[in-house]
Amino acid sequence: MANIDTKDLSFDEFDEVVNPRPEENDFDRIVESALSRRGFLGGVLAFGSFTALGTSLVPTGAKAANGRFAFTQIPTSTADAVIVPEGYKSEILVQWGDPLWSDVPEFDDATRGTADSQARAFGDNTDGMDVFSHDGKTLLVVNNEYTNRDIIALSAEDKRIMAEDDIAKGMMAHGISVVEIANDGVAWKIVKDSPYNRRITPQSEMELTGPAAGHDLMKTEADPTGTKSLGTWNNCGNGVTPWGTYLTCEENFNGYFSSSEEVQDQKPVSISQELSRYGINNKDWGYNWAVIDERFDVNKHPNEPNRAGYVVEIDPTDPTSTPKKRTALGRFKHENAEAVVNNDGRIVVYMGDDERGEFVYRYVSNGVYAPGAPTDALLDDGILYVAKFSDNGTGAWVALTPETTGMDQAEIHIHTRQAGSKVGATTMDRPEWISANPKAPEIYCCLTNNKNRGVKPNAGGDDTSVNGPNPREKNNYGQIVRWRPDGGDHTAPGFTWDLYVLAGNPAVHSDAYAGSANINEENMFNSPDGLAFDSNGLVWIQTDGNYKNEGDFAGHGNNQMLAGDPVTGEIRRFMVGPNECEITGLTWSPDRRTMFVGIQHPGERGNSHWPAGGTSVPRSAIIAVTREDGGVVG
Ligand code: FEO
Ligand code: CA
Ligand code: CA
Repeated sequence: MANIDTKDLSFDEFDEVVNPRPEENDFDRIVESALSRRGFLGGVLAFGSFTALGTSLVPTGAKAANGRFAFTQIPTSTADAVIVPEGYKSEILVQWGDPLWSDVPEFDDATRGTADSQARAFGDNTDGMDVFSHDGKTLLVVNNEYTNRDIIALSAEDKRIMAEDDIAKGMMAHGISVVEIANDGVAWKIVKDSPYNRRITPQSEMELTGPAAGHDLMKTEADPTGTKSLGTWNNCGNGVTPWGTYLTCEENFNGYFSSSEEVQDQKPVSISQELSRYGINNKDWGYNWAVIDERFDVNKHPNEPNRAGYVVEIDPTDPTSTPKKRTALGRFKHENAEAVVNNDGRIVVYMGDDERGEFVYRYVSNGVYAPGAPTDALLDDGILYVAKFSDNGTGAWVALTPETTGMDQAEIHIHTRQAGSKVGATTMDRPEWISANPKAPEIYCCLTNNKNRGVKPNAGGDDTSVNGPNPREKNNYGQIVRWRPDGGDHTAPGFTWDLYVLAGNPAVHSDAYAGSANINEENMFNSPDGLAFDSNGLVWIQTDGNYKNEGDFAGHGNNQMLAGDPVTGEIRRFMVGPNECEITGLTWSPDRRTMFVGIQHPGERGNSHWPAGGTSVPRSAIIAVTREDGGVVG
């Protein structure tokens, strides 16, 4: 532990190092896991008889007819460029640091801007996003998840931001960017000075609503009511409501808190078990926010972290509206929030908690949605459930209530992970995006990877032996699970599930790590993360994985986006991103002729100059992908 260099670690790896779980070396248990894994995988591969997996008819690569796919698969790439299929083109729509108002200076490669300029410019590291049509305008709402400290800040030392203006600049690079966009007949551009343009940052006022609002655990010195908080940060995936609001999801909110006592005494203060479960430590991840804002010092303000980790509802059509943190949807490392209207009008929101061995959740509103009627209660008044998957292909939603958990209602919505553990929820391989198929009552969920599967328990001590939807030990490739609610009713207590794909590498492995039968050497990838269905029912898969292109990952190339056919199981690669990026965030123009895709953290390890090339600073950006013939893209 002592000499581990943490500055190059990902969010999850950092949590792992600074907050280690007990190592387990129980030989008997591991052997048992391995045996059950083999047994279960036999079952998975046999799924081909009633799902698409395992079929020998799945065509491969560019040789196949295009079928439902309006493109020819592209090969993997390690170029510092965005690659799309023949007949398509991609252009930059907006990049980190682009001013949203005309009185803000253009991005300066030499300085990377200031706190003031960044507060009024497009944020960094684009993630979940959506497009809204309003009053004849087109509004793009985008999460800016985090910032690469050594790219944004010249004062960064070992990836720790030192200068106060740089710390504030880093903070202002987080949050949400709302920006009007318009197409001049040639390309989409942002509309500077639009009255809809808005930055929502870690300093913007928020309202806390729902069961946890006002609870003692939510009260701080600055907010004795426990109903008003400042800011949202580490906004990962997103969702939209049927009434036209945007849902932004607070994911790795923990990495911004630190303890002044640790800094002064060079020894850890005791962090409560409640905070530890969420990865709150004495050390932050190098953002140094506690230096300029005491709220982020958990030693002084131990309840402040309880006010983060929520789904936040934003009305993009009213730039003066106060975002609402909807505590009814639970507190965890929210990836995205997929809202569907059930047949009876109730709102159902599916959500994943992205950490090794954490859970999948469902929220069901008590009230029903009616267009034009008030919607406020729909995300405040409802029941939160957690998923239990059985190895036999069925599953159940367990309600998180005072009766099932022994916790009071507010606490269930503050310590949601603990509530899930109490009812024996199924530990998952890092649930990322969840998306609903518009053509069938089925839900897909990316389980990106989990090196701890079968190795050690989750942060709550829950067993993580291999299980049905998470069938591989030390899972370095990831999979996509899908489920169908019983009777097509999203509020039903039960569901059936199967695996849509096990990612893998058939060039290196011949066992379960080769992947499922719809993976071949032409379309292979690892770490599925972003996920979205298009209106035609193809599912788009975005990756945030290992891009070293060697060893277990040889032939995978840079991170990529693929499209999958839910019916046949066929998957084809559509896009490859520049060096060291992640592809994340996907939405469409209202006419579906432009697909907007997010390119996050190009050059996170110093080996990209995308998009400007030369010796330029790499910049996260949203690209607009169109067909050269002007046709519909999804
Ligand atoms: Fe922000 Fe789990 O990805
Ligand atoms: Ca993600
Ligand atoms: Ca990820």
